[in-house]
Amino acid sequence: MDLKTLKELSNKVEADLARKKREEEEEEKKEMFTDDDLLNASLDDLTAAVIPPGAVQNNPSGPTVEQPVQQAPPQPKKPDKSEIFFRELKEKTDEINEIIEMYLPEETGYQRTVLSAMNYSVKAGGKRIRPLLMKETYTLFGGKSKVIEPFMAAIEMIHTYSLVHDDLPAMDNDMLRRGKPTTHAKYGEAMAILTGDALLNLAFEIILRAFSKDRIDPEPIGTDKVIFALSILAEKAGIYGMIGGQVIDVEGEKSGIVSKKRMDTVYRLKTGALIEASMMIGATLGGAVDSDVSEIERIAGKIGLAFQIQDDILDVIGDSQVIGKETGQDARNNKMTYVSYEGMEKSAEDIKKLTDEAISGLNGFLYQNEFLNELVEYLVYRDK
Ligand code: IPE
Ligand code: IPE
Ligand code: MG
Ligand code: MG
Ligand code: MG
Repeated sequence: MDLKTLKELSNKVEADLARKKREEEEEEKKEMFTDDDLLNASLDDLTAAVIPPGAVQNNPSGPTVEQPVQQAPPQPKKPDKSEIFFRELKEKTDEINEIIEMYLPEETGYQRTVLSAMNYSVKAGGKRIRPLLMKETYTLFGGKSKVIEPFMAAIEMIHTYSLVHDDLPAMDNDMLRRGKPTTHAKYGEAMAILTGDALLNLAFEIILRAFSKDRIDPEPIGTDKVIFALSILAEKAGIYGMIGGQVIDVEGEKSGIVSKKRMDTVYRLKTGALIEASMMIGATLGGAVDSDVSEIERIAGKIGLAFQIQDDILDVIGDSQVIGKETGQDARNNKMTYVSYEGMEKSAEDIKKLTDEAISGLNGFLYQNEFLNELVEYLVYRDK
């Protein structure tokens, strides 16, 4: 081939690529929502825009899981939680929100879009279960200082990042989270990916900055404990923890059929791992001995599993307005869940059994934290 033909060929390839990019950008613009669209659209409009009625997402060719019509299970009788419990829960959640806000970034500089998206995702709300469990486990082991605070903010940043990525079109393709449009629906996909990345990184920045000189003094507990807590956080968020669980979960959707053993692994990792991290960090910084930290990991694993089973139940029978996310998404995503595998009744029974076991584990320690026991019980009967 002579030089002239080669040049013509290369110009043609470049022109083709540029045309393709323009077409893709046009397509993307059509699909993107403006803020006004989002404010004016109902959830149904948003959902219909991305999910054609009856479509099974992420699985255009794979077999479809038979999703039996689910009935509300005979719910175990709700224990009468006292007004004092709910008042305390509210006070503690408010305190956590204040701590988290202290660590959120200021929206300035050229990168402010991502900073605004980070604040949007975190401030949208959420139950703050992980920092709550962390703080209460810390208290159980006698912790009293501020060393726990940056860890509380960090676990919520990591959890929020996991939700932002979980909602992306390539994953669960959700348009509603914490009662608001998902991060990618509001800021676009690229910014949502970067928001998740940024929140994960910020979690570690928060902790490292907090213990740098002139700030929180790690001495009452010792630097070793802070480093151990950091390594728990890193590991439980990673490939042997939450990310690993998400990977197996997403791959399961392709076939729609997974073994019970594989499903248990998904649950233990995608949801259990961050709950284990929360309670293990609380125990570590509170001064628990190694064997107690291991016992807390075992207990937290049960809480995590029960928590995710209830999440699956709520996906089937919950009220979207109350839970702040779309319902029926697991079936639409062709997902084999604990509920589709075991049925509603057995799922509800298993939640109860796991919770009883977790509470009796907590009662096995020398000291007690009554609020923590009540919180664990409350998580089972939550309706959001
Ligand atoms: C949702 O977690 C994702 C799961 C792991 C089940 P939460 O139910 O804790 O969500 P927020 O933080 O309250 O929004
Ligand atoms: C999410 O599981 C677990 C993580 C985000 C790590 P789900 O996909 O069931 O959570 P929701 O229902 O979207 O909150
Ligand atoms: Mg998911
Ligand atoms: Mg999801
Ligand atoms: Mg779910």
